[in-house]
Amino acid sequence: MNSEDSTMAVIPAEIDVRANAFETLMMEYQCAMFEVKTKLDVLNAELSHKESRNPIEAIKTRLKQPKSIIEKLQRNNWDVNVASIEEHLSDVAGIRVICSFEDDIYKLVDCLLNQDDITLIKKKDYIAKPKESGYRSLHLIVEVPIFLTTEKKPMKVEVQFRTVGMDFWATLEHKLKYKKNIEMLDNPESIAEELFYCADLVHQLDGRMMQIRKKIEDKQGFEVK
Ligand code: GTP
Ligand code: MG
Repeated sequence: MNSEDSTMAVIPAEIDVRANAFETLMMEYQCAMFEVKTKLDVLNAELSHKESRNPIEAIKTRLKQPKSIIEKLQRNNWDVNVASIEEHLSDVAGIRVICSFEDDIYKLVDCLLNQDDITLIKKKDYIAKPKESGYRSLHLIVEVPIFLTTEKKPMKVEVQFRTVGMDFWATLEHKLKYKKNIEMLDNPESIAEELFYCADLVHQLDGRMMQIRKKIEDKQGFEVK
């Protein structure tokens, strides 16, 4: 084997080891995502059974794309390697929980955080305190253990809770803004104001729908007695 051959033999092996470590980490994040999704499915099943209505409309899961992982590490001047992903990123495994009503969100969050294998790392309540854009949702970063063949490993998962209304707004707002140079328009502030106004309308609708539900529940409770 000449020197060129030996170099070639070493480099692919190194790359392979790194790629394998990355794929292993992604597999672990996926397992953690499944663990948390199952917990939410269980809560939804129990609450649906107890209250004859499902508090969760949909659960969406996603693993952050390698390209987005690298972009986020570079944007923050963090090292681009597997250890750095685990150290710095908390949204590699992401779950979005679309709920029927705002009070369902708080009930589910309480139930999830009360589970003894869930550790709360961070909570951001953008429902109580919406973002400047008008964005509302409740974000949690939790840690959940996954049980592998030879170890128990705590993994971070981001869980975003929204109502159907909040999801409608966030999805369309993202679609309208994504890769569009809104700041190039004559009046970008008016677009932001309009979007903020729409977020407020959706919030009012969420409130009114919840009031209607409560009136119906009160009436049913009264008739049962
Ligand atoms: P990231 O680096 O983007 O993860 O930001 P962060 O760590 O400060 O988290 P933040 O609490 O701002 O939430 C980030 C996620 O919330 C985004 O990936 C979006 O899914 C969602 N989000 C936050 N703000 C907005 C917004 O104004 N509009 C929409 N449509 N989504 C938002
Ligand atoms: Mg994010």
